[in-house]
Amino acid sequence: MSNPLDGFGDFLDSFYPYRDAAPVHSTLDAPARDRADVLAEVAGMARREDAQGDLGRVSGSLYSGDHEHYQFLSEVFANFAHANVLQRDMYPSATKFEGEIIAMTLAMLHGDAVAEFKPGQEAVGVLTSGGSESLMTAVLTYREQARTERGIVAPNIVLPVTAHVALQKGAHYFGIEVRKAPLGPDHRVDVAAVRELIDSNTIALVGSAGDYGHGLIDPIVELGELALEHGIGLHVDGCLGGFLLPWLERAGYDVPLWDFRVPGVTSISADTHKYGYALKGTSVLLYRGRDLRRHQYFTVPDWPGGLYVSPGMAGSRSGGLIAATWASMVTMGAAGYLAAATEIGATAAKLKAGIREIPELEIFGDPLFLVAFKSDVVDIYLVNDALTAAGWRMNALHLPAGLHFCVTRPNTKPGIADAFVADLAKAVEYAKARAGEPAQSGAMYGFGGTPQGEITLTALMSGFLDMMQSLAPEA
Ligand SMILES: Cc1ncc(COP(=O)(O)O)c(C=O)c1O
Repeated sequence: MSNPLDGFGDFLDSFYPYRDAAPVHSTLDAPARDRADVLAEVAGMARREDAQGDLGRVSGSLYSGDHEHYQFLSEVFANFAHANVLQRDMYPSATKFEGEIIAMTLAMLHGDAVAEFKPGQEAVGVLTSGGSESLMTAVLTYREQARTERGIVAPNIVLPVTAHVALQKGAHYFGIEVRKAPLGPDHRVDVAAVRELIDSNTIALVGSAGDYGHGLIDPIVELGELALEHGIGLHVDGCLGGFLLPWLERAGYDVPLWDFRVPGVTSISADTHKYGYALKGTSVLLYRGRDLRRHQYFTVPDWPGGLYVSPGMAGSRSGGLIAATWASMVTMGAAGYLAAATEIGATAAKLKAGIREIPELEIFGDPLFLVAFKSDVVDIYLVNDALTAAGWRMNALHLPAGLHFCVTRPNTKPGIADAFVADLAKAVEYAKARAGEPAQSGAMYGFGGTPQGEITLTALMSGFLDMMQSLAPEA
């Protein structure tokens, strides 16, 4: 009988690169290993996996890239790694760290403007485990608010087609209909289309600052007016841009208003573990007022296990991450964030100028820090194949097909932007020479957008998730 994995060897080797190189553990009954041996094995994997990012050739992913910064955060983390911050009597430092992270984020995003529009109102926040949890929590909060205050039992949420998919995940988990608004010619959401989608069961609108795919800021001022007109919430997803746009604005870039200075904005997510340069595992979710935040709280007074209170989805949480996030913010400070944003803005501007010189390519809109581009002339996935071979790691987009380069600090090193533009021009020539040939990196994306294709893709993607949680098949 033939082996069903025949022909998949290369893929399996890249998916499970350690399958022959390191011991496989599938039972706890094996003799316990030596700590030094484990440390050496783990460090080897980390060095190998960081190498490409440290060269500055990866889009997004590594936001700081400064290993001294990571080392410092890890030291702070180690003090509280084991601490469960649900137990505040034992770990009151978590209350200090958490309160200050939220206060500093509110100050950065103009939480003080809230009281200008409604005297007595105060912007507040919570800490979550990441952008997805912040977005899903916001979705839940608006559902609970609409149910309690307006009696809505069949809720819907209106979001741009480009809004982060975790909002759809939240809507899926919490039984909310998603209404997707198309984009205008500038690739930002079409506000007139949003208006058409609102009805009496709409619980909130969403805009991005900037969106994951194209890095663009939706027309938040107009969305805010629409939200106020209908008496509904507006969540701004600043998971990606939240810790960068305020500093780009201070650096003199033309950043449209998107934070609490816009009266209709009722909540904002901003990820500390992206451009906040913290360790992975934290994000901030802010609300225009205590009443709104109350809708995400979960309290049970009659459980035999005791009085149960939790602000969000997690139960036990590590004090290490909270302390390290705080440490990242207070050691970066305004000067550090501004310096980083200035370099990121300049690198993105260089990339934009270089890409505009390549006639076969077109940039989506006018981004400030994440440059997405497409082509009507060449297969952009063939371009990606050539870039991959040259050591770059871009993010592939579809519907429409494109690539994006999300500029982070490792990419701001001298020479990186110029080297990328030069390799991109060569990659376009590669794609031209291979017109009509199937691209390696685009094989899956071609299925998107048709019902049959989506069934196929869903099956493949679920299989991929199965693999992510499995031992490597034996060679
Ligand atoms: C705009 C935006 N929102 C939300 C998220 C989700 O964040 P996380 O990956 O931390 O869950 C991302 C991730 O890149 C993002 O770019």
